[in-house]
Formats: sequence, structure tokens, C-alpha cells
Amino acid sequence: MTPDTTLARLPVEFKVLFTGFLMVIGVGLLMAGLQIMLTHGMADGKVGLSVTDIVYSYYGNRSGSRLEFMLNGQMKAMAPDEARFELIEWARDGAPAQQWVSQIKPIVDQYCISCHNSDSALRDFTKLENLQKVAEVDQGASINTLTRVSHIHLFGIAFIFMFVGWIFAYAEFAEGWKVLLIATPFVFLLADIFSWWMTKFVPGFAWLTMIGGICYSLASTVMIFTSLTQMWLPRWTKRA
Ligand code: HEC
Repeated sequence: MTPDTTLARLPVEFKVLFTGFLMVIGVGLLMAGLQIMLTHGMADGKVGLSVTDIVYSYYGNRSGSRLEFMLNGQMKAMAPDEARFELIEWARDGAPAQQWVSQIKPIVDQYCISCHNSDSALRDFTKLENLQKVAEVDQGASINTLTRVSHIHLFGIAFIFMFVGWIFAYAEFAEGWKVLLIATPFVFLLADIFSWWMTKFVPGFAWLTMIGGICYSLASTVMIFTSLTQMWLPRWTKRA
């Protein structure tokens, strides 16, 4: 059912109020998109958001530690194979402190600290903690982070969709589609948050995160644009 009043027929003060809100929310959504690109989007080291980025953000890059990755890549030439393998094995064992003095420090002193020392801008490997940090396997987002980010998202974004949907409910729009558009953001917001938690354990769920984000962005964009045009474009206001 279309409500008694439509957006086109609203008194101007309500149009201004709704327009102000929708514009700010629109810009906010763009900023949110940009922020996702700049943080999660760079998780795999490449520009642009991909499923790998989402996997790295929530599940982590568990194929190995940063130390192992570098020793098999850019740092490969820095030490002979036996030394590298010993460092990699140590990292895989969880970088235990007991082996530092007897086994690991001598290798690092010999092959690494000429560059990785306290005077250089590079990570200082004269300190065990610094090496342990790069020896950790990246486990992605922690449960603490997930709980914090989830509840902030759910509460905050629910309000945004509430008001965007409320305003859009006064638009003239094919009834079935209208109901679908109003419901979509809520459904996919839940799916999105659910997918973060699932991705933490099963990387395949990163697809759901991607799809959820795209669906609720599209639905809000359609609602915001429709509401704005029906309030201000002569085509609608004349008829009303
Ligand atoms: C000739 C100088 C040099 C030596 C010797 C060297 N490194 Fe490096 N290392 C670098 C540079 C330069 C970078 C930064 C590369 C970059 O960021 O692209 C780096 C980066 C790294 C990183 C990544 C650090 C981070 O913050 O992500 C690790 C891990 C690493 N090196 C380990 C080692 C280990 C282990 C050794 C000894 C086997 C070693 N490096 C020896 C120059 C060196």
C-alpha cells in the first residue's frame, strides 16, 4: 500500500530535512566505501578489493609467517639455504625464546643484522621480540575485534537503513520492489556480519561478505536516488 502522502507532496520543510539526511548518508556511504578500499582493499598488497583481501582480513594469511614469506622471496639471497631453513622451521614451531641464544641469534647476527639493526629504518632484528613479531602466522581478525566491529556495525547501520527505508516508504514505486528494497539492506547487513565470523574460520565465506556489501550498497543507492528525485524533480512534483 502506498501511504497517503508521497515524497513529491511533502511540505518543503520535510523535503529539506530528508534531503539533508540522505545527502549526508550518501556521502558517508561513499567514504565508507573508500575506507574499505584503503584498508581491507590493500590487505593482499594490491590495490582494489578482492576476495583474497577479505580472506586475509578475517581468516588471515595462514600460508606462513611474514618471516617465511620474505625468506622465500626478497630475503632469499641474504643467507644460505641451511640458515634460511633453520629460521623458517623456528618460525613454524612458534618462534620459541629458548632457541634464540643458542640457535637463532647466531644466524641472525651473521646474515641479517648488517641491515636489520637499531640504526636502520628496517625492522631491528637484534631484538627477539621484533623477530617473533614477523614469525607469527597471521590469524586474521581476533574474536575481540570481530565482536567490537560487529556490534558497532549492527547498531549504527541499522539506524541508517531504518531512516533511508522510512523515507523511501513514501516514494511512488512498484509495490513488490519497494518492499524488497526496504528489506534488502537489513537482510544483507546480517548476512555480511555473519560472513565475517564465518570467514574467520572458513575462508570460502569471503564471497558472502563481498555479495552482502554489494547488495546493500546497491539497495541503499536506489532508495536514496529515488527519494531525492521524487522530492525535487518537476516530473514528480508537478503530478503531485
Ligand atoms: C642487504 C640488506 C638486508 C639483509 C642482509 C637482510 N635484509 Fe631483510 N630486509 C631488507 C630490506 C631493504 C627490507 C624491506 C623490503 C621491503 O619492504 O620491500 C627487508 C625486509 C625484511 C622483512 C620484512 C619486514 C617487515 O616489516 O615486513 C623480513 C621478515 C626480513 N627482511 C628478514 C630478513 C632476514 C631473516 C634476514 C637474514 C637472513 C634479512 N632480512 C637480511 C634488507 C636486508
